[in-house]
Amino acid sequence: MRSRRVTNPSGFGAGARLTFHGPLSAARANRLAADLAASSPASVVEYGCGWGEFLLRVLEAAPAASGTGIDISARDIAHARDNAEARGLSGRVSFIEGPATEHASPADVVICSGADQAFGTIPEALKALRPLVNPGGLLLFGAGIWDRTPTKEQLAHMWEGTTLDEFLHLADLVEVAVVEGFRPLRIETATRGEWEEFESGYAAGSEAWLLANGNHPEADEVRAKLDAHRSIWLRGHRDALGFAYLTLGVPDCWP
Ligand SMILES: C[S@@+](CC[C@H](N)C(=O)[O-])C[C@H]1O[C@@H](n2cnc3c(N)ncnc32)[C@H](O)[C@@H]1O
Repeated sequence: MRSRRVTNPSGFGAGARLTFHGPLSAARANRLAADLAASSPASVVEYGCGWGEFLLRVLEAAPAASGTGIDISARDIAHARDNAEARGLSGRVSFIEGPATEHASPADVVICSGADQAFGTIPEALKALRPLVNPGGLLLFGAGIWDRTPTKEQLAHMWEGTTLDEFLHLADLVEVAVVEGFRPLRIETATRGEWEEFESGYAAGSEAWLLANGNHPEADEVRAKLDAHRSIWLRGHRDALGFAYLTLGVPDCWP
């Protein structure tokens, strides 16, 4: 088995203590995966698949399906291949390292969760994804939304360059999906608990490393990254940023 590659000794950003790279509980993931698999897809593609955990769950639930996961991160693709091998799925899934737009091909089930940036803005992603879903197929689209419009102060504490128009409110996001030709089969949003699991899990491995390696030459850098990350969450997007999971259907034939 290939070893995990990390960017710094604490592994910050590698998601070592995360199951998914987003605010997604195992219970919701398994239910969504089962719903997608119930459509009996022959092909499943995930754009921005990360380490492939959600795609692999869909393939486990859909034994007749083949899958492709695409991501620009070499580290995540290596991890995804390891995951597939460990679960006996290597024969039914391929993972491609590269930009989503250069490896796009239509499928019965398409997944894009937290990776809309691979296609531009969120509305641009929905437009680009629509022809990539076969007639009668499904798109699982996971994307950030404004649960509440952030205050100026919250916005200033978020990731550098975050603007109000980066995310839509839920009703507007679903409206864009409908205008692009999808029908919303399920509309759901991440809970506070899912966000807390995600944000805490993102930092947990590095926090533990820091406690044990306070004198390491890179400790100051890791501490600064962790403090900045926590501020972005607790002073920035908490209470304002949500995350929607839309299960979107495509008609059997063009109207
Ligand atoms: C927030 S993560 C979500 C990963 C995965 N979908 C999940 O929920 O666990 C976003 C992923 O999109 C990938 N990504 C960003 N831009 C991309 C692009 N242009 N093409 C393919 N993947 C991209 C990143 O490398 C990252 O793995």
